[in-house]
Amino acid sequence: MLRIGMLTSGGDCQALNATMRGVFKSVTLSSKEPVEFYGFEDGYKGLIYSHFHLLESSDFIGILTRGGTILGTSRVPFKTIRQPDENGLDKVEAMKQVYYKLQLNCLVVLGGNGSTKTANPLSEEGLNVITLPKTIDNDLWGTDVTFGFQSAVDIVTRAIDEIHTTANSHGRVFIIEIMGHKTGWLTLNAGMAGGADIILIPEIPYDMKEIIRVIESKDTNGGRFMILAVAEGAISKSDAKLSKKEYQKKLENYIFPSVSYELAEKITKKTGREVRVTVPGHTQRGGTPDPYDRVLSSRLGAEAGRLILHGEYGFMVGYHNHEIVKVPLKDVAGKLKTVSPDASIIKEAKMLGVSFGE
Ligand code: F6P
Repeated sequence: MLRIGMLTSGGDCQALNATMRGVFKSVTLSSKEPVEFYGFEDGYKGLIYSHFHLLESSDFIGILTRGGTILGTSRVPFKTIRQPDENGLDKVEAMKQVYYKLQLNCLVVLGGNGSTKTANPLSEEGLNVITLPKTIDNDLWGTDVTFGFQSAVDIVTRAIDEIHTTANSHGRVFIIEIMGHKTGWLTLNAGMAGGADIILIPEIPYDMKEIIRVIESKDTNGGRFMILAVAEGAISKSDAKLSKKEYQKKLENYIFPSVSYELAEKITKKTGREVRVTVPGHTQRGGTPDPYDRVLSSRLGAEAGRLILHGEYGFMVGYHNHEIVKVPLKDVAGKLKTVSPDASIIKEAKMLGVSFGE
């Protein structure tokens, strides 16, 4: 009997179910022995507190196209994983106990950065772990692309497309605020796809004066309207120079709901232009996975299945140079993949007249 535990952890995204279906299908179609899948509910919480159910083959029918996660998810921050819970429970020990009690052969974790970080100590403590790279942020090191990312790019691009017509009608400046506190992959890609005039990402701190200069120049859209794609984590050059402590202190007295509203107020003050802010928010993580993500997640799931059948553990399954690859978990855990300001996509965008507000 092959016993496999599976959980989805952290913020959800569109192709979690498609990925689990990939794992289930590839294992059950090729295994020479009977297989049982245990689904842990609401992420690591399910594994810590022994909340799980046996998954039936019927659970995997019709879920290739279904967004969200059939297992539920939650955030259990990595920094708290070694701290006892409110009842003094050692979480890592508790997870190991549940794993051994169920006599699992392996644990499959679908998660982003924090979740992969948590998977690593479990692997180091002897559990057979495989992780799959989930997040709309695309910020996981060791894979060119994460599942969920492309579906989110589609959603944000559609949002920007729709803003174009109303921005033009009213001759307004529009700011579309896009998810990504630490990295700007989503903002960069959706911004380019949506033809944004200014793209602000955390990796390239902005200068307010330059943003005003671009808005006031008549080169873009005849000066009639302007689209800014702004990452949640966009930061000014002066703030980027602050230490982490100084920046945290500054945020304590921050009066705006987010960076976009601060930018909007400053732009209106300096230029007299009407500015509107649109925040697609969690729509970016919602709905059905796009075809790209369905293929990617199915391929990742299939490879995870192959690794399980060969007893190869301690890997994240990733995607590199159009091939599915396995990357040692210890090499991935805790590493953020950021946009390099020197990347060719940045240079190409600039050649098309996109400003990064530098
Ligand atoms: O990590 C994915 C992500 O969607 C980020 O882009 C975003 O900043 C964050 O999650 C939002 O988290 P929550 O769903 O907890 O509000």
